[in-house]
Amino acid sequence: MSKPRVVVTGTLRDAGLAPLRARYDLDVLGDAPARELVLDRLPGATAIVSRTNVPIDGDVLDAAGDSLVIVANFGVGYDNIDLEAARRRNVRVTNTPGVLSAATAELAVTLMLAAARRVAEGDAIVRAGKWDTHGADTFLGRNLVGATVGLVGFGRIGQTVARLLSGFDVRIVYSDVAEVESDVAAERLELDELLAVSDFVSLHVAFTEGARHLINAQTLALMKPGSILVNTSRGAVVDTQALIEALRQGRPGAAGLDVFEGEPNVPPELRALPNTVLLPHVGSATESTRDAMARLVADNVIAVLDGGEPLTPVV
Ligand code: 8YV
Repeated sequence: MSKPRVVVTGTLRDAGLAPLRARYDLDVLGDAPARELVLDRLPGATAIVSRTNVPIDGDVLDAAGDSLVIVANFGVGYDNIDLEAARRRNVRVTNTPGVLSAATAELAVTLMLAAARRVAEGDAIVRAGKWDTHGADTFLGRNLVGATVGLVGFGRIGQTVARLLSGFDVRIVYSDVAEVESDVAAERLELDELLAVSDFVSLHVAFTEGARHLINAQTLALMKPGSILVNTSRGAVVDTQALIEALRQGRPGAAGLDVFEGEPNVPPELRALPNTVLLPHVGSATESTRDAMARLVADNVIAVLDGGEPLTPVV
């Protein structure tokens, strides 16, 4: 009997590839494969290992056909997958929660500090040989120590950010759909109030249509002048054009962004703003984290293809 076919809509580190290759007929499509390539290679697939930058909709599931049993997403966010379409076809969906919380939270803290201390701007000036003054008012930033930090979304990653900041003597406030039981001292506020009191606002919501442009012209206007906005969740949580305008007005004063609407394209107006730190979606990008994600993806596929329950099911 031929081995089950597993199609990877991207690349995967060896920690996940090796166990899959030992059991299945693997087809690795390479980084950011075109939709035509994905549709072309799916027929007869038993499992899809999906990357978050490749949409898995009804047509993609249909291309795989009745053989498809599981879509194992390489990522905690699964807004790239049409869950209803998967449910209708009896296809299991899994994600990679937990293993990337530390890396993503670390990056959020990195962006808070980098934006507050103008790290990218200063680095560019030194590199360009344009460092010519050391005045009393040159390159002033803001302290994270002692600040009020507003976490929009207080799930695994938001709470990890709060834990990492425990040595910074910050006041943590959060907004979420419900009160969150946590070991971290934090006060729940309505989003409007959180934006009004926070010196740093960091976004950690799971992306759903309800979260689209949660941060828009109206909500940005509530932020403190000079405050810092950090986004490591999904680009579409922020209305980019409204943010560009708000950053020009200094409210917020700076932004640290790891995710963008329409990645990998970033509007030139945003790239031109000196009060931004911009990264290419690297929240989970540490070796150990990507290995743990790859292993979890493989474990989910193997569990389901062996007839068992997935470790981290979404559907
Ligand atoms: C990506 C992410 O999955 O976990 C998520 O939701 O956005 C990231 O970890 C990663 O960049 C691989 O596509």
